[in-house]
Amino acid sequence: MANVIHSQVDLHKDFGGVVPELASRDHLERLPHLLDLAFADAGAGPEEVGLIAVTRGPGLAGCLLVGVGVAEGLGASWHRPVAGINHLWGHIYAAMLTRPDLEPPLLGLVVSGAHSDLVRMPEHGRFEVIGRTRDDAAGEAFDKAARMLGLGYPGGPALDRLARAGDPKRQPLPRPSLPGLEYSFSGLKTALLYRLRDLGEGAGPSEKADLAAAFEQSVVESLVEKLDAALSREPVAEVVVAGGVAANTLLRRRAAEVVAGRARLTMPPLELCTDNAAMIAAAGFYRGGEFPSPIRVDPSLGWD
Ligand code: KG4
Ligand code: ZN
Repeated sequence: MANVIHSQVDLHKDFGGVVPELASRDHLERLPHLLDLAFADAGAGPEEVGLIAVTRGPGLAGCLLVGVGVAEGLGASWHRPVAGINHLWGHIYAAMLTRPDLEPPLLGLVVSGAHSDLVRMPEHGRFEVIGRTRDDAAGEAFDKAARMLGLGYPGGPALDRLARAGDPKRQPLPRPSLPGLEYSFSGLKTALLYRLRDLGEGAGPSEKADLAAAFEQSVVESLVEKLDAALSREPVAEVVVAGGVAANTLLRRRAAEVVAGRARLTMPPLELCTDNAAMIAAAGFYRGGEFPSPIRVDPSLGWD
């Protein structure tokens, strides 16, 4: 009915990354207003709310505490249950917002600023991790590469744009290769650092665009190579690729190519890939069972 997002990019960009204390204070200041906007967009009021869903982790402790505090306050005053939702589950459930007919079992690839996880979802509310990164997450790698290339914050979308102007073959970078379904992006990041150092003054706009394209290609090919292997190992009819990095142009194209003819691929639209409240509402909608109170915030919550 409504999906209102307040971006904190302007708040953090001078610092080159998220400042946790500023982030949580801004949550506290903005949430009441966002709630008004959401009700206005939906043309509805609190009486139409059946359940309040709120992220309980993983994420920044201060931000999670503000969210859970607000949600529990609303639950108490509106006399509604409040469900603590796993942020990672939310990324998968974003796919159900565009495909309400989408049902598990499915294979998921969740790629964000902190995760690069391959998961099996045999049924609603159950996830098994079958692959993950050994070091950096894909989004973190994109953000760090973007910073090295002087693209500022947030890096992923800027790198995506710059890569469109480059040729990945002119400044090739190594492709991470790990056994099984594991990812690793830290070696690739170091390779970019050394290449930029060797190029020195020679790293002009066109070299940087080529490097952005090569870096993006290495990350994306690694992501889809393991997705391909996971799909061969665990054939399923439905595949979901989600999380902030699923907004990446090349990943969207390559994932579609790799999955084509083998399963049906769902990638949420861009605004439902990067963090948003609608995906948490969707996860709350499908979540059955009890609603434990008080909700336990867990900044490092895993899939289960
Ligand atoms: O899921 P998300 O919004 O927040 C986390 O839960 O981490 O993911 C954010 C990540 C950031 O690292 C950001 O740079 C990356 O997603 N990202 C992208 C693109 N849009 C966002 N990375 C590559 N290409 C993009 N178009
Ligand atoms: Zn996220």
